[in-house]
Amino acid sequence: MNKPQSASDAKTPEQPTETTNFTKARAKLSFDRMIEHGAKMGMPNPLFHCADRAAKATIHIDGKDYINFSTYDYLDINGHPEITEAVTATAKVYGTSAGASRLVGGERVPHRELEQALCDFLGTEDCIAYVSGHATNVTTLGFLFGPRDLILHDNLAHNSLAQGARLSGATRFSYQHNSCEDLERLLKTKRAEHKNCVIVTEGLFSMDGNIPDIPRLIELKKQYNCMLMVDEAHSLGVLGEHGRGVAEYFNVDPSDVDLWMSTLSKTLCGCGGYIAGRRDVVQFLKYGAPGFVFSVGMPPVIAAACTTALKILRREPERVKRVQHISRYFLEYAQSKGLNTGEAQGYAIVPIITGESFFTGFLSARLFQRGIYVMPISFPAVKEGEGRLRFFLSAAQTEENVRKTIDAVIEEMPEAQKMVDRYRAEHPEG
Ligand SMILES: Cc1ncc(COP(=O)(O)O)c(C=O)c1O
Repeated sequence: MNKPQSASDAKTPEQPTETTNFTKARAKLSFDRMIEHGAKMGMPNPLFHCADRAAKATIHIDGKDYINFSTYDYLDINGHPEITEAVTATAKVYGTSAGASRLVGGERVPHRELEQALCDFLGTEDCIAYVSGHATNVTTLGFLFGPRDLILHDNLAHNSLAQGARLSGATRFSYQHNSCEDLERLLKTKRAEHKNCVIVTEGLFSMDGNIPDIPRLIELKKQYNCMLMVDEAHSLGVLGEHGRGVAEYFNVDPSDVDLWMSTLSKTLCGCGGYIAGRRDVVQFLKYGAPGFVFSVGMPPVIAAACTTALKILRREPERVKRVQHISRYFLEYAQSKGLNTGEAQGYAIVPIITGESFFTGFLSARLFQRGIYVMPISFPAVKEGEGRLRFFLSAAQTEENVRKTIDAVIEEMPEAQKMVDRYRAEHPEG
């Protein structure tokens, strides 16, 4: 089979002869800067590495296995034979496409089965599954709220939540990361001026690996007559004894949160997103949210994959214990070696805070050369000076790999610093 054109494009973006507005804008992207800095130091492009099989504890790239810290497959379910079987059987019945928006001809049995399975698991009245996780947040917030409303979201809330808040036209403020005090200050001063208000947070923060104080957020939402939306992209399957997420972790009543959101692309090994909550809200979304009404239904095969993944999660809670154990092990081992893990609490996401973007990029590149695959995160995804290597832990990961990796991080830090110094000396222009 010929190599797809896009694969090579992704590795070495073509330089157009004329500078267009887009190429000018691209020069400002931090990813491009990272590639450029790396290239000047003889490092290959660290992005769009193409693996040729499912990524587990290791990822296979260009004929070599790398210890893998870049998978969302938290419970090591992706590629499970039961899922493959369910997908094959579903494809035989439905093909691979829903064929239309669910509202007008695209509704299929696997959609309903998935939504019902999610309601049963989460303890909610109803659920709507969308075709994309990112679009779930954008369209839900964009549709439910309007110019007379107020959206208060955590400063580190995911891009999709911020985009949805913008789209809604509501007044929007971000409160300091994980600070219920700052949120309350905003509620006191702003709430009364608006009709509806929604507080938006993640269940497990994707950059820091810490958990918000959900019981306090519930108190505040009740006290100030607001709604509460929790994005469980990273907490579903990870928090709580049975992986039921942040509600189980804090033992709160699921009905105290108005909009439970998660992607289907992480623990549930598919693609898409859902909103679970009260029936009236979910039905309103089903008849009105543009990202649902004017978009095709998710492929029935994906719905079947997610339902099967959920079945495996429910049947095998030991997977949840495994991801919790390896995450805790990673955190404690890193801390015992004096590394800065920020506010991570030891659940699936553990950053190692490295500071400057430059340094972080070089460190990640050096680790890749040593057979370790971990992505650097730098400004604007996090504040300048708070660059980090973000480690995603999976139930598939081993203690030996964790020790090897952290020892390598420590050994490579002085080498990465030497690269920064050399870069600065050779490229005083920046
Ligand atoms: C917190 C959060 N919400 C939403 C999304 C979007 O989900 P998806 O990638 O499934 O579109 C992500 C993606 O990583 C995320 O981290």
